[in-house]
Amino acid sequence: MPVITSIADLKRLHQRRSPKMFYDYAESGSYTEQTFRDNTDDFAQIRLRQKVAVDMSGRTTASQMIGQPVAMPVALAPVGMTGMQSPDGEIKAARAAEKFGVPFTLSTMSICSIEDVAAHTTAPFWFQLYVMRDQDFVAGMIERAKKARCSALVLTLDLQILGQRHKDLKNGLSAPPKMTLRNFIDIATKPRWAFGMLATPRRTFRNIVGHAKDVGDISSLMAWTNEQFDPQLDWGKVQQIKDAWGGKLILKGILDEDDARRAADFGADAIIVSNHGGRQLDGALSSIRMLPRIVAAVGDRVEVHMDSGIRSGQDVLKALAMGAKGTYIGRSYIYGLGAMGEAGVTKALEVIHKELDITMALCGERDVANVGRHNLLVPKGFEGEWA
Ligand SMILES: Cc1cc2nc3c(=O)[nH]c(=O)nc-3n(C[C@H](O)[C@H](O)[C@H](O)COP(=O)(O)O)c2cc1C
Repeated sequence: MPVITSIADLKRLHQRRSPKMFYDYAESGSYTEQTFRDNTDDFAQIRLRQKVAVDMSGRTTASQMIGQPVAMPVALAPVGMTGMQSPDGEIKAARAAEKFGVPFTLSTMSICSIEDVAAHTTAPFWFQLYVMRDQDFVAGMIERAKKARCSALVLTLDLQILGQRHKDLKNGLSAPPKMTLRNFIDIATKPRWAFGMLATPRRTFRNIVGHAKDVGDISSLMAWTNEQFDPQLDWGKVQQIKDAWGGKLILKGILDEDDARRAADFGADAIIVSNHGGRQLDGALSSIRMLPRIVAAVGDRVEVHMDSGIRSGQDVLKALAMGAKGTYIGRSYIYGLGAMGEAGVTKALEVIHKELDITMALCGERDVANVGRHNLLVPKGFEGEWA
């Protein structure tokens, strides 16, 4: 059993144990991957302010996101095809999140269905919706999420059209993988993954197959997905979804102050400052760089969350100190899942929690609620003058 001390360790194991096409799917950004790199590089530019001779006993990372208690303000972000990183991946990740006391967000593009996850967990999870042209299908998804007692709907606004990721095209990404000679050789070297997949019936997009019209098998599904994301999604449609859902609503993919103001006027319960982990608009600024402006614009009117680039508890602390009330991890838990299944997701959460806790202590803070800009050393001009 390897000794895991960091998210980077989990990433190395993930690469070794999951088929190349799925590791590559996770570990890529769109086009030149500039935004993907900036997301992590910009976190590294921010430094922490050391404080000494402060009583650091009785520390707590417990907090709330949209009024729900969380063991730390870190949720699992919606990630498509999670069930291809590890057999039954969404169920494993949801269970790890439940045990840890943080929210799990199920993607529309998941392998395990809403019902699969609900049947294997007891804590309510969050459901992420992609808006499709097929309105009956969208209405059906919302009803299914209600029936599964999902406690928030996360509506993703930054993917009406797919940002190109070169590796996915080159690898012929599909779920399940096609049995070409190249894939066969690759999978033969990943026996744990292969046997696990043979043992589960969950190998395709089960939120969609059997629920949307004219989608009986995977080959038509891929065509259907490309055709089906709704390019006409606008604030009017967002309002319709809000009305149909009627519960807590989180708008994901806000990276602009005007959009943030619009979202706050609209009455969202929270917004997620996000560039989709650098997977959509390559050339957009990193989330951590945009976060302070958005907090300044709307932080008193709507709960501001952030994701994109978090690889450690230090990063979580930096995001909170910059004004986020909650954060999400995508790849950081996917590495854990691909490395060691449910135990790997737990490990990722433990690593991040411990780093957050110790960093808080060394910064002289005992309660995560008190973390603020005073804990940071931010280089002058970090936010940049962009015209
Ligand atoms: C492999 C992968 C698949 C993703 N799929 C979805 C998705 O289905 N829906 C969604 O809203 N966001 C999706 N995202 C974006 C994540 O929710 C999140 O915004 C992003 O991973 C944050 O960046 P990080 O990976 O650097 O933490 C995906 C991200 C990755 C890495």
